Amino acid sequence: MDRHFRSPIRTVVPIVLSAAALGAGGCTENSTPAATIGSAETVVSLAEGRSLYMAHCMMCHQPQGEGVMGMQPRLSRSEVVQGDVGYLVEVTILGMGDHPGGLEASGQFRQQMEGFPDLTDSEVAAILTYIRRSWGNNASAVTEDEVWEIRQDL
Ligand code: HEC
Repeated sequence: MDRHFRSPIRTVVPIVLSAAALGAGGCTENSTPAATIGSAETVVSLAEGRSLYMAHCMMCHQPQGEGVMGMQPRLSRSEVVQGDVGYLVEVTILGMGDHPGGLEASGQFRQQMEGFPDLTDSEVAAILTYIRRSWGNNASAVTEDEVWEIRQDL
């Protein structure tokens, strides 16, 4: 890694992607570095989740999930994020606030969150897995099947 990256965020990209590449390309056993992080599948999904998070969530919840006080909640070191998957899928798909179909606003934040009904089950799973494994969170991965099942009841 001899190239120079200025932003601390960008330095993470090549590391995650190369771990994903190693994991995905690994032919025999779990002897690749990716094995120390999780299965090849999980590592690929973390890289995908990260880029989806950056595209759809980061502008409000911030690059390290730190949120903005009074505006939008912190997702880092969060019991909610490490907790009930059903709730996380609902918030992500339906949003929270005054718009039709959104979960009721908590009243703690001036900002509201529109839902993301157009994200696929696998995209929602990737984003939620990423936020549950980042910034001091360490909870189980979310699967595409889980998201599908929860979506049926929304
Ligand atoms: C427009 C800004 C905005 C965007 C974009 C946004 N959110 Fe939110 N999010 C909020 C706000 C504001 C709340 C809190 C609403 C409330 O409490 O009434 C929230 C709440 C949440 C919660 C619940 C946190 C808790 O402690 O209850 C989760 C989880 C969440 N967002 C995840 C996401 C994910 C994942 C994305 C991207 C797919 C995303 N958000 C995109 C503004 C945003």
